[in-house]
Amino acid sequence: MAQPPPTARSVEQLREAAASCQACDLWVEATQTVFGEGSEHSRMMLVGEQPGDQEDLQGKPFVGPAGRLLERALDEAGIDRRRVYITNAVKHFRFTRRGKRRLHEKPNAGQIRACRPWLDGEIEAVRPRIIVLLGATAAQAVMGPAFRVSKQRGEVLNSPVGLPVVATVHPSSILRAADNESREAAMSSFIADLRVAAKHA
Ligand code: URA
Repeated sequence: MAQPPPTARSVEQLREAAASCQACDLWVEATQTVFGEGSEHSRMMLVGEQPGDQEDLQGKPFVGPAGRLLERALDEAGIDRRRVYITNAVKHFRFTRRGKRRLHEKPNAGQIRACRPWLDGEIEAVRPRIIVLLGATAAQAVMGPAFRVSKQRGEVLNSPVGLPVVATVHPSSILRAADNESREAAMSSFIADLRVAAKHA
């Protein structure tokens, strides 16, 4: 079973080791491990939930529709995507098949726990000034199961990983907004949360 080697110090070493991870069952159906991306010198780290369909196929985090929305929000918050480290709490795509489509399914607690050593390794290697937790899965993976994004979003908080965090919504929740008006409001709040994090980076 692949685990971060005790000597792993760089993202590159972690990425190589994670490519053969079988610590939970998700590797069986997924195309590949989707590891984090970005400079090890990044001052900001973004943590999402898990790769989606496009990410699974391309092997990179946040390259599908949620990634495009995230990039737009980062841009509006004055954050250059190329200067942040982007990763996920879980590094394999979990889905159910519906005909030819692969529908996203939330990772369960065991899968999040199994993947945790990789996230810890990335945090240790990058040591960002601020970690942005995108959505409940990432927030609870780092802050614990009682954490509620709705109650504590957009604040700089101390975290159990020893670095400050800002929790906010997942970009795909904005894509799912019922109408234009609520989508715009959700986007504005998301950008405001990212600005809080940017000030701390
Ligand atoms: N959603 C995530 O949480 N992560 C990705 O990489 C893509 C979509």
